[in-house]
Amino acid sequence: MEPTPHPAAPAEFPLDQHLAYLNHAAVAPWPKRASDAVIRFSLENSRLGAAHYPQWLEVEAQLRRNLAALINAPSPGDVALVKNTSEALSMVAAGLRWEPGDEVVITNQEFPSNRIVWESLKEQGVIVRVADISRDDVTPEGAIEDALTERTRLLAVSSVQYGTGLRLDAEHLGALCHSHGILFCLDAIQSIGAEPVDVQAAQVDFTMADGHKWMLGPEGLALFYVRPEVREQLQLTEFGWHMVADRGNFDRKDWEPAADATRFECGSPNLLCAHALEASTSLLLEVGLETVRERIHQRVTHLASGLGTLPGVSAITPDSPGRRLGIYTFELSARDTKAAQAELFEQGVICAYRGGGIRLSPHYYTPWAVLENTLNRVEALLRVS
Ligand SMILES: Cc1ncc(COP(=O)(O)O)c(C=O)c1O
Repeated sequence: MEPTPHPAAPAEFPLDQHLAYLNHAAVAPWPKRASDAVIRFSLENSRLGAAHYPQWLEVEAQLRRNLAALINAPSPGDVALVKNTSEALSMVAAGLRWEPGDEVVITNQEFPSNRIVWESLKEQGVIVRVADISRDDVTPEGAIEDALTERTRLLAVSSVQYGTGLRLDAEHLGALCHSHGILFCLDAIQSIGAEPVDVQAAQVDFTMADGHKWMLGPEGLALFYVRPEVREQLQLTEFGWHMVADRGNFDRKDWEPAADATRFECGSPNLLCAHALEASTSLLLEVGLETVRERIHQRVTHLASGLGTLPGVSAITPDSPGRRLGIYTFELSARDTKAAQAELFEQGVICAYRGGGIRLSPHYYTPWAVLENTLNRVEALLRVS
């Protein structure tokens, strides 16, 4: 049965009626309030320049509060604003002091950024060990535990895998890392904004996420959380006027890094993106992340059961709702799956080819009719094959 649409949804998402937008795991559309914020900011810039800069900084401060709320950070001062997820991962990789023989454990399903940054440490003698979380003889967390050794310094995983949509148990992994004295780095770009994330409960040392997926913001502004207790362990790799404790005192010649996470922000902030992301995240917080999660689950479950009735469709994403979040990926046996994805896209079903299958990723507001329409289109594709 079709659940009632969220009251905020129709006005906030004036998406073109021809599109079935199921690509939030790639790049999401902005809610109306985010595009309004950008228009206002743009007009203000051309009329007044930066005359209201202090007010812009208030928007940025509100954004930091919103982001801290989305991940349950102890304080907004624990959240740095950086360029993207890959930059934050690179700051962790380049900022830790490594010894030859140190090991980093990742998984075999990671997005390239969460593999390449660790492989870049090869010249320092760092070894990357890959846990096979596609095994069916053990849970993914069990496979990760199997890959840990005495030399493991850091575990780096995505909370939800970009291709298969597999959702890992972050709290379980955090406890595991904590008990072995291993740093825990969680790439949470496929979770933040889609469900409540709790960096404290999961004992996360580092987490990062760009705003353009589940947070419904623009590309190019990411949150980077570093657990306050490990902040000093992370050497700084970028420097400038903005990352110092006495910011704005341009006459001072001595300096020290800011005590809070702004030490990771070297220069002028991206205030254009900050206005947009503040607006998008305010919407998610108004709707409530529990509600967002529940509505995403309803939609993914509807797609999963509809696709499950079609002959020649097999799921790549796990069946169990606890093992998935906003991604549902499937393949076709009677057709070339990649060609079928291209055909769906041509027809206005905005989806991606990832992890060997067609990846659908609805958000909380996705109209039920979009899901029905997509299921009909997949069925029609199978009929003509
Ligand atoms: C799990 C994961 N990590 C990282 C990224 C890349 O993020 P960014 O472009 O913000 O570096 C993606 C993008 O799809 C992703 O899915």
